[in-house]
Amino acid sequence: FSLKNYNTFGIEAKAKQFIAVHSTAELTTILEQNKAERKFILGGGSNMLLTKDIDALVVHIDLKGKRIVNENEDYVWVESQAGENWHEFVLWTIDQNFGGLENMSLIPGNVGTTPVQNIGAYGTEMKDTFVSCDAITITDQELKTFTKEECRFGYRESVFKNEAKDQYIITSVVFKLTKKNHKINISYGDITTELAKKNITNPNLKEVSDAVIAIRKSKLPDPKELGNSGSFFKNPILLKSDFEKIHQQFPEMKYYDVSPTEVKVPAGWLIEQAGFKGKRFGDAGIHKNQALVLVNYGNATGQEILTVSKLIQETIFTTFGIHIEAEVNVI
Ligand code: EPU
Repeated sequence: FSLKNYNTFGIEAKAKQFIAVHSTAELTTILEQNKAERKFILGGGSNMLLTKDIDALVVHIDLKGKRIVNENEDYVWVESQAGENWHEFVLWTIDQNFGGLENMSLIPGNVGTTPVQNIGAYGTEMKDTFVSCDAITITDQELKTFTKEECRFGYRESVFKNEAKDQYIITSVVFKLTKKNHKINISYGDITTELAKKNITNPNLKEVSDAVIAIRKSKLPDPKELGNSGSFFKNPILLKSDFEKIHQQFPEMKYYDVSPTEVKVPAGWLIEQAGFKGKRFGDAGIHKNQALVLVNYGNATGQEILTVSKLIQETIFTTFGIHIEAEVNVI
């Protein structure tokens, strides 16, 4: 079974077996019936790089549905099943005038995988509106509800990338959104610039979403046209004391304070300075508008993209003494 249409990098890789599940009951049955089989859980396929065939039963989580589970005058609690497309879900919340997800418009992938890496963009992270998620264990189909605290979210981090890695399948997620007095967040420079173009000073949810969509379209390739997985690397976080030394050598280096003792450096800047932006190695390349995004021009293999990513990592390390870590899951 070819997985080419199931990963946004558009990598050709084969699965030994493939099954899409449409309900939690079906999921439980499949897991029970295939206890002895090796399993590989696949959501939207938007944050992984396949470097080999998958010698396992691929279980594609295609659970659909969304509903309001609770509300009061100010807030609404919305539950989405894991297989809902993230961006369509965001647009639906905006249509209902529910606030909180607008800055995360147009992020590829499905709702169920957003907690794994605590997706974020333009000054907002998923953890800001996340309440809880339901998950089942792969080995014995036990249901567990994870509270926000139990998820231990960090920058592109959660318990699902650490202690709970490969143990759970997230089946649904609950978000707490505003019904009024929306906390419009246009602190990210690019959004202000985009709104200014239209002379908007007091944007509503839809206008913020539209601005984010315009920014993303101008910088980030559409996976339908050019295979990619968004940012390939995380922005490195350095101790201020270490950063000061590097900064003396490279005074033009950009950085943001993330805590009293740490700074974040934009990896896109490092990659661009190292001369990789827009470069192409066969069908593997570095996007021309956003150096943090690796792209597949058509027939790149996962190994070829991985090789380019390693070359970038090594060059950044020898040039700046900074280690950049992959954000996508390399399989
Ligand atoms: N930059 C460059 N050259 C580039 C790209 C970036 O110099 O080619 C520098 C610029 O100084 C720019 C700064 O990096 O001001 C930040 O760039 P950008 O606003 O594009 O954001 P980013 O740090 O590259 C992060 C997220 C994105 C998210 C944006 C906006 C990570 C790993 N990535 O990228 O998330 O959309 O911020 O909030 O944190 C993703 O995770 O897949 C993703 C796309």
